[in-house]
Amino acid sequence: MQNLPIGIFDSGIGGLTVAHALKVKLPNESIIYFGDTEHLPYGEKSDEAIQNFSKKIALFLLEKKCKCIVIACNSASSVAFDIIKNTVKNIPVFNVIDPVIEKVSNSCNACKVGVIGTKATISSNIYKSKINAKCPKAIVTALATPLLAPMIEEKFIDGDISKKIIANYLSNKKLQNIDQLILACTHYPLIYKEIRDYYKGEISVINSTNIVAEHIASELKNKTLLNNQFKPKYEFFVSNYTKAFEKSARFFFQEEIKLKEANIWT
Ligand code: DGL
Repeated sequence: MQNLPIGIFDSGIGGLTVAHALKVKLPNESIIYFGDTEHLPYGEKSDEAIQNFSKKIALFLLEKKCKCIVIACNSASSVAFDIIKNTVKNIPVFNVIDPVIEKVSNSCNACKVGVIGTKATISSNIYKSKINAKCPKAIVTALATPLLAPMIEEKFIDGDISKKIIANYLSNKKLQNIDQLILACTHYPLIYKEIRDYYKGEISVINSTNIVAEHIASELKNKTLLNNQFKPKYEFFVSNYTKAFEKSARFFFQEEIKLKEANIWT
């Protein structure tokens, strides 16, 4: 069991930021990644559609004999976590939200927390309800920032356009006087620096990738599921292959990768 791969999925290629953090944290682990490029962006889809896609992908990863499943997408983590857990009963399922909630709640009493993410993530209200369940006095405000994911995919990063879009969103009145900002989308680690620069170090900007990788590493250790052989294999599947996705994937995973198409819908 220990030497089976970790299964990771996202609506597309954003989840590769999580896959990369996992590869750095757990270099012995094999990874099977699935990006649902045919159906992205999940952030614009209904809960039901995201749940159906996610369920199918979880079954694909189960068939590939993964030892656990990581939902490397905030939109799917927000609305499909319970359904996936019920579908995949015998292996651990991790989302990208709970480890962040744990971290924020430990350092927050009556603090003011801002959250940015896709429309699906923000309208689920999940961050507010989970933080307030642990810290009833925390004030949580959230803003959907749907232009950021396509902006990052098109590599509009660290330039005039990205600065303007980021400033426009972050100056929204919902995000004023916050102590912490949660980047609730797996694309956003790529603009972490720009967002931090916007705040000039005055607030804490929470990038979930390392927090999630740490959490998964410690859970796998507790469950004696860490790989004990140094022979990791990496496989990357997408539901719709294009050369453009492959090029962007390299940018998100920070190294050259080959994508394979897997049609899992029929
Ligand atoms: N990676 C997705 C997330 O974390 C955002 C992209 C999408 O909308 O599909 O929510």
